[in-house]
Amino acid sequence: MSFPKFSIFALLFGIVHCSSVCPDGYTMVLDKCLKAFKNPMTHSQAETACTYTGGTLVNIKSAIENRAVSQFASNSGINQTWIGLFCFDNKNPSKCFHDDNSGTSALYDNFASGYPLVDGIYGGCVYTSTSGSLAGRWVSVKCEAESMPFICEMPISTYDASCPHNYNGFCYLKSSEMPITTGKFKDAQKICEAQDGSLVSIHSKREIDYIKSLYRDQTSIQYILIGAQLVLPNLYSWTDGSNFEGFDYRDPLRSSYDINNKCLFMDLSTGLWSIGTCNYEASFLCKVPLSVVPTPQAEILTERNPSDFSKCNTTFLMAPGEFTSYGYLSTAPPEPPVYCTWKIVTTGAYKMRLFFTDVNTYNPIYVNDENGREIASTKYGARDFVSRSNIANVTFQASGRPGYTGFRAVVLPY
Ligand SMILES: *[C@@H]1O[C@H](CO)[C@@H](O)[C@H](O)[C@H]1NC(C)=O
Ligand SMILES: *[C@@H]1O[C@H](CO)[C@@H](O)[C@H](O)[C@H]1NC(C)=O
Ligand SMILES: *[C@@H]1O[C@H](CO)[C@@H](O)[C@H](O)[C@H]1NC(C)=O
Repeated sequence: MSFPKFSIFALLFGIVHCSSVCPDGYTMVLDKCLKAFKNPMTHSQAETACTYTGGTLVNIKSAIENRAVSQFASNSGINQTWIGLFCFDNKNPSKCFHDDNSGTSALYDNFASGYPLVDGIYGGCVYTSTSGSLAGRWVSVKCEAESMPFICEMPISTYDASCPHNYNGFCYLKSSEMPITTGKFKDAQKICEAQDGSLVSIHSKREIDYIKSLYRDQTSIQYILIGAQLVLPNLYSWTDGSNFEGFDYRDPLRSSYDINNKCLFMDLSTGLWSIGTCNYEASFLCKVPLSVVPTPQAEILTERNPSDFSKCNTTFLMAPGEFTSYGYLSTAPPEPPVYCTWKIVTTGAYKMRLFFTDVNTYNPIYVNDENGREIASTKYGARDFVSRSNIANVTFQASGRPGYTGFRAVVLPY
């Protein structure tokens, strides 16, 4: 089972002598890859365009980057761009989160005086102009009220002429492009190792988006085998040795433990991972580090704290996360008749998928958008819903009747 590394692709790509590379159509600006889109779009349309291939709106984290982005924008013929930053609070840059999950703008911002403002006629989405009195300054506006050109950002990668799918320092090899198009876990892992890699490990929502993009024209493939294996009940490890804990995109509605199922498969339409048997012959994806020291880009995620239960009346729950009804699982005394709301958010690039993994309530649980309009309600069994934006508000009035255990919910960026 051996064939030349990256097989025929070496022949298709010319040799260029440089060590860093950007995806087609992207320009290297400092340590990132940028592309300007001149067609004006609303914030959510712009984010969709950027995340479609595994990117986000441009993130700006220093004065040098701010100048470089302005320069790139005007060189590209656009006088305004959305920035990959979303603010949740007035005049508080430490409550503005970067799209690439690297944290907040607490350390550097360039807001125009008085901004960010998120209430009333203002909003959480941020843009900058390249001309006029506010050139280079950041302004927050209502996300869907304005359309403007924008700049997408993709991670820089390491150049390798023979790599067919190059992203963020790794080469991705699809089994459908190799002589062995499907395989069981053990065989697939061997094939990936023969390419100096491993079955794919996944460490961010952006990587999920990138992988989805690799299969967009292959609708016959619905699931791929990925490189995680169960080592203890509910505890996985990646075959390439990278850390599983930092980013977990398992489908909360399909994660029940079964001794026969120790492998994870990624659903190519949702990106979610579900459990299956390692003996299933599936399409698979290898991931090969291109630099000497593989450095999966660290993502700062909110710590999951299993001992923190209901989070009742929380005004800022950053996805990924978990919450429950007040007094969840206690039936005696009865479900306390408490009213709770939860405001759930994620970075501006994404919507959220709310999974109600266990629901046993008398009254319905309501999921509303940020304007208080109902998205969905549920009171039976397990359900999941997709939010309209990166903000959602869940409300639940417990009935106080005996016999109801409440609910548990998990939320993932989507
Ligand atoms: C940018 O250009 C467009 C059209 O050319 C114009 O309508 C808009 O006002 C300009 N924006 C800024 C901030 O100068
Ligand atoms: C959620 O919505 C309810 C009902 O519209 C409202 O009373 C509550 O203040 C909202 N909660 C948050 C945290 O925004
Ligand atoms: C949550 O807030 C509501 C409305 O302010 C209040 O009635 C309720 O008692 C609060 N719940 C808890 C558990 O504090």
